[in-house]
Amino acid sequence: MKKRRPVLLPALALLIALPAYADRYPVPKNAPYQEECASCHMAYPPQLLDANSWRAVMNGLPKHFGTDASVDEKHRVPIVDFLTRNAGGGKTGVTVDASGKPLLRISETARFVRKHRELSAATFKRASIKSPANCGACHTGAAEGDYNDDHVRIPK
Ligand code: HEC
Ligand code: HEC
Repeated sequence: MKKRRPVLLPALALLIALPAYADRYPVPKNAPYQEECASCHMAYPPQLLDANSWRAVMNGLPKHFGTDASVDEKHRVPIVDFLTRNAGGGKTGVTVDASGKPLLRISETARFVRKHRELSAATFKRASIKSPANCGACHTGAAEGDYNDDHVRIPK
């Protein structure tokens, strides 16, 4: 039995670390994504939308939430590839609207709604927050991909 200890201990450490991993979504490094998709808002974690939604977002950039976020094809193609490769799949919950169209917002996915159901619409509209899309307003570690509830500060 003694011989097994060095194997068991790291396995145990991993088990303890696992729950913390569920609230970490670090954005993998990708130059075109950072360049084109992190100027108006943070670079959202690709893991929080599924691949169909990312394709739909990337196919609608000229009409992107009331702004024009078009990028040239030289950048668009690698960004689509990056986003779909790192997409969240089924873990993001339902990612289509009532008519079956892919949702374009992380903040409308079933998982997001469930995780934020204790917050009222009025809270999200505060001047200090403005929108559910403004993750960093409440998640102080959002830039590092840290969404742990211990690091949430909801501004007044
Ligand atoms: C010209 C500014 C601009 C650029 C560039 C831009 N966006 Fe956006 N994006 C917006 C605005 C405005 C919203 C809506 C924010 C809100 O609802 O508060 C938004 C929202 C989003 C959302 C939904 C957030 C949510 O969950 O509610 C996603 C996803 C997104 N953008 C992805 C991208 C990607 C991918 C790129 C790069 C190809 C990009 N954006 C580039 C302006 C921009
Ligand atoms: C108004 C403040 C606010 C905004 C804006 C906000 N969140 Fe949150 N978020 C919270 C709070 C509070 C919780 C913890 C809920 C709980 O534990 O009951 C949370 C929980 C989460 C969790 C779950 C973490 C876990 O422990 O499993 C994720 C993931 C998350 N948020 C991602 C996002 C993303 C991505 C955005 C932006 C698209 C965002 N949030 C915007 C307040 C906010």
